[in-house]
Amino acid sequence: MKLAVLPGDGIGPEIVAQAVKVLEVLNKDGMKIEMEHAPIGGAGYDAAKDPLPEATLKLARAADAVLLGAVGGPRYDALDRPLRPERGLLRIRKELNLFANLRPALLYPELAGASSLKPEVVAGLDIMIVRELTGDVYFGQPRGIEVRNGERVGFNTMIYSESEVRRVAHVAFGIAMKRGKKLCSVEKANVLECSELWKEVVAEVAKDYPEVELSSMYVDNAAMQLVRNPKQFDVIVTGNIFGDILSDQASMLSGSIGMLPSASLDENNKGMYEPIHGSAPDIAGKDIANPLATILSVAMMYRYTFADMATADRIENAVKKVIAQGYRTGDIYTDGCKKVSCSQMGDAVVAAM
Ligand code: IPM
Ligand code: MG
Repeated sequence: MKLAVLPGDGIGPEIVAQAVKVLEVLNKDGMKIEMEHAPIGGAGYDAAKDPLPEATLKLARAADAVLLGAVGGPRYDALDRPLRPERGLLRIRKELNLFANLRPALLYPELAGASSLKPEVVAGLDIMIVRELTGDVYFGQPRGIEVRNGERVGFNTMIYSESEVRRVAHVAFGIAMKRGKKLCSVEKANVLECSELWKEVVAEVAKDYPEVELSSMYVDNAAMQLVRNPKQFDVIVTGNIFGDILSDQASMLSGSIGMLPSASLDENNKGMYEPIHGSAPDIAGKDIANPLATILSVAMMYRYTFADMATADRIENAVKKVIAQGYRTGDIYTDGCKKVSCSQMGDAVVAAM
């Protein structure tokens, strides 16, 4: 198997280095994974004046999976829009056709105190958000800023074809089948035609999954329900922009955004794996970031791309163990725990494995 390793910017290189330690241990006693590093985001711009350099895209295309750190930083904010780090991320998602973005929100019992919600509201939380990732207002044409009637207007297009909705719905129903068999489709069908079609198509796909209980919810209500009673959800499927917002919100239910991994999959389960947090430029280079989301992203890679559930479990169990042992990076630290650096956390996971 070939893995393209794209550390990116900010804390990206530090957290990815910890995940690579884990991969090196696994390489000793299982399937061999060949790793090759390449720049993306601001690092791509620095190396090749392009946030997604040609060579990086070529490597990612040839690989079986991609491990990404994070992109972005204040140094790049003034660049022209197409050169900004975020564009590199959006382009690699589109180029590799990674339309299904899986973002779990899972609460480790020991971290319940780190959530901003009451422990009894979040205890036992285990939600999977399936976010469509290559369509919607993110990519819809026309888009732009232009002058009309003597003033500037900004515009984007929210658009979904039924095939785009259908394929992500199938992924979400498939995941629901392996979990609690409940799927909630989130849209804004009371206002948007795009959502009306989304809702209809999801209901059509539901006929193939009679065992899954399908519900639908308007996005404003879903945002409220996520903080009111998050445990009512099992799997959520939603479009790109609603999923962007709801997944950040859901991450906070679990205490720290530093704990949550993600997978972005194409039709053949080729995937890009990344922590859902950003590049955190303010703490970059200090060896204090939390590497667990990136390490858990490697577990998702074994689960979804390599279909090696035993190894995925092994990594996830090691993370559970270090949490139970009291190891904490600064973002999840509470009194009485053992405060560790990013690299010490990586070593602790390796030891637990
Ligand atoms: C995410 C991020 C990205 C997005 C940004 C960095 C372009 O917020 O992965 O959720 O909006 O998709
Ligand atoms: Mg986001």
